[in-house]
Amino acid sequence: MSAILLIHGPNLNLLGARDKAVYGEKTLADIESLIGSEARKLGYDLKAFQSNHEGAIIDYIQKESSNSVGIIINPGALTHYSYAIYDALLDSKLPSVEVHLSDVDSRESWRKISVTAPASVAKISGKGEAGYIESLQLLHKTLSK
Ligand code: DQA
Repeated sequence: MSAILLIHGPNLNLLGARDKAVYGEKTLADIESLIGSEARKLGYDLKAFQSNHEGAIIDYIQKESSNSVGIIINPGALTHYSYAIYDALLDSKLPSVEVHLSDVDSRESWRKISVTAPASVAKISGKGEAGYIESLQLLHKTLSK
């Protein structure tokens, strides 16, 4: 089964506890299991990873990309300043989709900037966990071309 990487950045391990009005009620484990079962229906094995550390995310992308076909990533706040994650996504040569639970474009002005998104085929934000399903479907469409 082809693998898709589901990667989460800093503070997203606290989903379900952090600001529920912004990020919703679901825990990270809930999201990983929801997307995992949707991915299986489409014929993919989902490999989930979360880290609060930029370098650990880059190491993971470098290590796992040769055994994977695509990436769904919510880089958390690293979205707004990590050129290193942008480079790691590009260097992976895999199609990726960037997803955000909240609507980053209607929050603080610094959240409107995503330095990582240009490495992805799309950025989906403000749709909660439904945004992850959409990301998966989009990735599947891209991979099926
Ligand atoms: C987030 C949005 C980021 O601005 C924030 O730093 C996060 C979560 C989201 O999913 O809405 O940690 O990526």
